[in-house]
Amino acid sequence: MAEEFKVTPWEVTGDIDYDLLQKKFGTTPIDDALIGRLAKYGEIHPMIRRGIFYSHRDFDRILDEYDKGNRFTLYTGRGPSGNTHLGHMMPWIFNKWVQDTFKVPMLFQMTDDEKFLFKDLTLHDTTSMAYENALDFIALGFDPDNTKIILDSKNIDRLYPIALKVAKKINFSTAKAVFGFENTSNIGQIFFTSIEAAPAFLPTEMAGKQVPVLIPCGIDQDPHFRACRDVAPGLNYPKPCTLYCKMAPGLNGSDKMSSSDENATIYTTDTPKAVKKKVGRAFTGGKVSVEEQRRDGGNPEVCAVFKYNFFMFEKDDAKLNELADRCRSGEILCGECKMCLTEKINRFLEDHQAKREEAKEIIGSMAFDGFKW
Ligand code: TRP
Repeated sequence: MAEEFKVTPWEVTGDIDYDLLQKKFGTTPIDDALIGRLAKYGEIHPMIRRGIFYSHRDFDRILDEYDKGNRFTLYTGRGPSGNTHLGHMMPWIFNKWVQDTFKVPMLFQMTDDEKFLFKDLTLHDTTSMAYENALDFIALGFDPDNTKIILDSKNIDRLYPIALKVAKKINFSTAKAVFGFENTSNIGQIFFTSIEAAPAFLPTEMAGKQVPVLIPCGIDQDPHFRACRDVAPGLNYPKPCTLYCKMAPGLNGSDKMSSSDENATIYTTDTPKAVKKKVGRAFTGGKVSVEEQRRDGGNPEVCAVFKYNFFMFEKDDAKLNELADRCRSGEILCGECKMCLTEKINRFLEDHQAKREEAKEIIGSMAFDGFKW
């Protein structure tokens, strides 16, 4: 029996049983048939091949429409509550692949309102953090002519008419059942889901005709999009389709990288020295002594260092399998493995940090409706 776990848009705790979660939420597995179908559009992303993006709602329908020549719009987002870490970047990297593969427009929502309502932060904090987080998003190379960043507190005029229609269709008892609100929840929190739903319907409003929307994101956001899909037909909007990923693990062996443990979290602005220190302290599947590990081998299954190779830093399946074999046989020890991962992360961050600087030049042009940052 797995331990109790909890996954909501605002809280993720415990050992997550992803199959059970999928059943509880009622989402559909990404099976071999769907993966086979994807192959015709280009090389399949490792996050799909490895089951990191593992669940969906109506993704097949997005492909049906695409095949008929009906292009979809991509939508994902970020709640700007702190600095960007690798766990946040993971689904964005995948979104970039979708944009490149299907050549589609992208909307990125930054919910500074949400983080103000749900965290002990000022609106000034969350709006400033949105700017910092947006630099990381842009640095990943989204097509600047085809990508717009929505900042809720600035673009509310465009979101509000849609959010109102959504809000009128969701009653308090549904919101309570889906999100677990209590009588002490502030009333902004209760309304908020209608704001996260709005960008899913915005492309249809803007085009004046039904535009399919695909939302690739962490499965913790599903409660929002379940509610959003439920109200869509009554508002004459197409139901948004979703692709869901597992949470990126923490370096401490936890199921989710989280700013609550700074030492187990790699930020995009970390120095090479900080990365070395954090990876050096990571939870591994190693044995207590070198002798024992040479004899019995390590366990990549539970190892955070291996997981980081699996999730993001070793894209070559053959090399990944070789690493697992060398670990299990006791040939490679944790020290060496940590050094290799540190190098990979630092190479990635060096490049990312340069692009993050360049992003400052174009961030203005990517603001939805040209708002001022
Ligand atoms: N609520 C999300 C968060 O806290 C931010 C967000 C807004 C989002 N719209 C989204 C995430 C769409 C994924 C997809 O991070």
